[in-house]
Amino acid sequence: MEVTRYSELNVSENIKKAVADLGFDEMTEVQWKTIPHMLEGKDVVVKSPTGTGKTFAFGIPLVEKTDPEATQPQFLILSPTRELAIQIHQEITKLTKYLPGVRSVVLYGGAPIQKQITALKKNPQIIVATPGRMLDHIHRHTVKLNAIQTVVLDEADEMLDMGFFQDVCKIMEQLPETKQFALFSATISREVMDLMWLYQREDAVEITVTPEKESEPKITQYALECSKLAKMDFLIKILRLYDYQRVMVFCNTKSGTEMIRRRLAEKKFSVEALSSDVNQKKRNQIMKQFKARELQVLVATDVAARGIDVSDVDVVFNFDVPQDNTVYLHRVGRTGRARKTGVSFLFYTEMERARVKEIIRYTKVKIIPVRFSKGGILEPIPEDQYPF
Ligand code: CDP
Ligand code: MG
Repeated sequence: MEVTRYSELNVSENIKKAVADLGFDEMTEVQWKTIPHMLEGKDVVVKSPTGTGKTFAFGIPLVEKTDPEATQPQFLILSPTRELAIQIHQEITKLTKYLPGVRSVVLYGGAPIQKQITALKKNPQIIVATPGRMLDHIHRHTVKLNAIQTVVLDEADEMLDMGFFQDVCKIMEQLPETKQFALFSATISREVMDLMWLYQREDAVEITVTPEKESEPKITQYALECSKLAKMDFLIKILRLYDYQRVMVFCNTKSGTEMIRRRLAEKKFSVEALSSDVNQKKRNQIMKQFKARELQVLVATDVAARGIDVSDVDVVFNFDVPQDNTVYLHRVGRTGRARKTGVSFLFYTEMERARVKEIIRYTKVKIIPVRFSKGGILEPIPEDQYPF
């Protein structure tokens, strides 16, 4: 019998209590498959789709192993983006609710380094960091890594896609020879395999979680053909037609996010834009507002939105057709998380029909073509008139 409830895990009551406070009882598949191996100290490579609960799959064993008396960092978690790093740190902090001696710190670029140095002086055992800033701290000798027991690479595929391969290697070289290496990824790319080959021990455990039909988020996906100029009007029309409280709008360019933000703000929507042009302090503030439901619409580029887990997004708009097929899945995956239902819209021009076809072929998703009826509501296009 597999252990699938948190209450049955061989970890401290204080962690179980913290998880129970979050309302969770059953572990997700990736969690029950991974946690025992991580507790045992095995290297793991975990391939599991977005939204399956990977954070706790490594968070729980690390917190369990943390020595509250330790004054040197024991665990290092690397994340590709600042937003994800902050999110991981927040999740870890939730797990340590009843473990006052366990401290986590988050280190990322674009924020004052002095504050992070001060935080490091408080002897955290768990470090969550983006690779660039981590190296910066290593070079400044503001962080000690000789007691690191485990290094976790979260969203390894994204991290390597973003060109962090060398940085990751440089960091790995600073860590003790004997350590546990845990790699988490939605996909196992060529570069991910290279890292496994370089740094994993021979008895590493490979864990694969396939998207189960049942646990697949239920997302109703619509596509709406329109001219470039009509997109903005359609967006506003749909937002007014339906009562969406939490909205994410994706576009391909930074200038696009700003344009949409401005136009929606003019129409009195509560809206903010998230792109790499926005400074870190403002970004954190925007994320907080969005999570707290103080903000209705978040407009973002893909880079800015990577790894962000905001559950309960009611609707995702693909304001621009993504250039990459998997990006479509990532975007749409912002809604319908944790088995809730969601809606998405894909805006495309007549010229882009072939691209939409390609996305459908590649991702095997079902996209329903819709149009505005004469009465101004959305209606499905009859099958014999399908545009793609
Ligand atoms: O990292 P990954 O994309 O696999 O997922 P995550 O961000 O760790 O978790 C996705 C959502 O599942 C979060 O909102 C978790 O709080 C939630 N969740 C969980 O982690 N464990 C459960 N047993 C139930 C829900
Ligand atoms: Mg994750």
